[in-house]
Amino acid sequence: MVDANRAQRLVILGTGGTIAGRASQAGDNVGYVAGQVSVADLVAAVPALAGLPLTVEQVAQVDSKDMGLPVWQALVRQLSVHLNDPTVPAVVVTHGTDTLEETAFVLQQVLQPRKPVVLTCAMRPASALAPDGPQNISDAVAVARQATGGGVVVVCAGQVHSARDVAKVHTYQLNAFDSGDAGPLACVEEGEVRSFRPWGTAPDQTSSDVLTRFMAADVLPRVELVTSHADADGSVVRALLAQAAPSRPLRGIVVAATGNGTVHQSLTEALNEARAGGVRVVLASRCARGRVVPHAGLAFDHSQGLSPVKARLALALELLAS
Ligand code: SIN
Repeated sequence: MVDANRAQRLVILGTGGTIAGRASQAGDNVGYVAGQVSVADLVAAVPALAGLPLTVEQVAQVDSKDMGLPVWQALVRQLSVHLNDPTVPAVVVTHGTDTLEETAFVLQQVLQPRKPVVLTCAMRPASALAPDGPQNISDAVAVARQATGGGVVVVCAGQVHSARDVAKVHTYQLNAFDSGDAGPLACVEEGEVRSFRPWGTAPDQTSSDVLTRFMAADVLPRVELVTSHADADGSVVRALLAQAAPSRPLRGIVVAATGNGTVHQSLTEALNEARAGGVRVVLASRCARGRVVPHAGLAFDHSQGLSPVKARLALALELLAS
């Protein structure tokens, strides 16, 4: 709970990304290097934040294509410290766009935070002629200050998305994120948050066990992602089975399946061999919208509506806890 009698300060954690990117020429929106500018400098460039009580910390400085367990653990560690501080009502995290949806999902699953954790990003580097990062940070701070419930959300281009539904859907447009059929939770209009539906999650009872195991892990259980497509065969799955190292055995396969969870018959044969060998197989759809609708004809378990990359993380976290 937030202590109303003590000064409230927001915390902003930096992890890198295009929002912290720099190009050699100001007009270059694509030929830049991500993760160059400190989060302190990013925050200092947002006039709306001047004078607000803020604590700013650099947790990592990476291109989010390289995101993984070590940075997630460092982020969870710092988030836990700050979220447990009664003077901190919420935390903002700056992040690259490319794996933002995966970090948002992991943080939600592992931390189940009772306070808002607001991830934000940018599609243009900090050195752009018209960078989108300052507005996104300003909007993220508005969401962090106004949110009435806890949970991990993503703020980009004036929209607020849930960790479960958000996905990057465009390679360069500023409004690169979408929540599929669910739609965004809210929008930010001139610093005011307008909600479209109630949001903020109740903590899950399983979270403390997952959190402990997540923080103690050297690696996540090995779950690979394969795609079913025209002309597919089982060779990728059989290669995975053949080379699985005893130190990190293959524990799961998530299939980015066609349509409503269908899989090429040749790939299905290999997946059945994997399952017979104790490997968990889960179907997600490679379609950008909709979900695998459960029905008796599904060859394997389904992803409960999660996208392939999130289904992969959900299975790894489930295996970690088992
Ligand atoms: C990254 O994901 O770190 C680079 C790309 C981006 O932030 O848009």
